[in-house]
Amino acid sequence: MLKDFNQKIYVAGHHGMVGSAILRTLEKKGYQNIILRTHAELDLANQAEVKKFFQEEKPDQVYLAAAKVGGIHANNTYPAEFIYQNLMIESNVIHQAFKAGVKKLLFLGSSCIYPKLAPQPIREDALLTGVLESTNEPYAIAKIAGIKLCESYNRQYGQSHGIDYRSVMPTNLYGPGDNYHPENSHVIPALIRRFHEAKMSNAPEVLIWGTGTSMREFLYVDDMAAASVFVMELDKLIYDSHTGLMQSHINVGFGEDITINQLAHLVAETTDYKGKIGFDFTKPDGAPRKWIDSSRLMRLGWKAKIDLNAGLALAYADFLENTAKGTN
Ligand SMILES: NC(=O)c1ccc[n+]([C@@H]2O[C@H](COP(=O)([O-])OP(=O)(O)OC[C@H]3O[C@@H](n4cnc5c(N)ncnc54)[C@H](OP(=O)(O)O)[C@@H]3O)[C@@H](O)[C@H]2O)c1
Repeated sequence: MLKDFNQKIYVAGHHGMVGSAILRTLEKKGYQNIILRTHAELDLANQAEVKKFFQEEKPDQVYLAAAKVGGIHANNTYPAEFIYQNLMIESNVIHQAFKAGVKKLLFLGSSCIYPKLAPQPIREDALLTGVLESTNEPYAIAKIAGIKLCESYNRQYGQSHGIDYRSVMPTNLYGPGDNYHPENSHVIPALIRRFHEAKMSNAPEVLIWGTGTSMREFLYVDDMAAASVFVMELDKLIYDSHTGLMQSHINVGFGEDITINQLAHLVAETTDYKGKIGFDFTKPDGAPRKWIDSSRLMRLGWKAKIDLNAGLALAYADFLENTAKGTN
């Protein structure tokens, strides 16, 4: 199918890590008619504002990468905000997009939608088969609602209105624009910051929480953006033949995972930290493994391009450019 680079595309959340990568990818591919609003310009949790925006702009496509996002601490401390903000953003954007005649929408979820004890690697059909991780359950419930909103609008209005709303579920992401907050960041940005600071202060050892044996999967954010555009551009017949009406989401992962120990050594190499790496066995490890099954996406013809060595180097360069300057 021929691509129309003049399609009017709204990227929601374009200041965020994922939204900004989607914007970079769309621009690089030649899409020319992209509309953007910052959070200050448009509060997506506000129904009236979202309605006005969609009625005025009437985009052809929407990438929904805006969300209230945070680590375990923030999710545990502000569960009401996490469930309320995310449910409102999704309901407002998906419903008002439908009302304004948007034909294609991509909803970005997260692998936390899957049950805590789902078999590894986690397939798409593990959704709603068990109990969720309690720390981010409210956030996960909102993300599950986002998938179900897309599916329900497709089921009720797909044929009559020609709409096609899809969902992608990324694994852990990292890269430019990541959050390097000392207490509230994900594992890769936290390690980059700690190893960088240890190098700058000549600290003899960096101590990592846990045994280092638990395994995690990581995807560079530009790969995630490429996968998002790839999924959005897929022909409807092909997308439908690889998904189900009530199981329409697609996992996006790197395809391999590594131990926290291996990751720590890679980050030490990337940041050129020469001291020792120790493990604090008294601290918890978290789940032993969290690895999603991306074979559905791979069967569709997509594969990640940026491995952890290359991705960490790019992430560290971005950290030095945009974050470290203020911390040294
Ligand atoms: N980062 C990961 O490892 C990861 C992994 C899996 C899935 N994801 C998913 O990817 C999506 C984007 O995540 P991200 O890492 O890019 O998060 P992020 O960097 O925090 O970006 C989220 C963006 O949404 C905006 N936003 C939040 N509430 C808003 C509102 N009410 N109205 C308008 N804009 C609002 C934020 O603006 P402000 O900053 O101004 O509030 C920010 O620009 C999320 O759905 C997340 O679940 C991320």
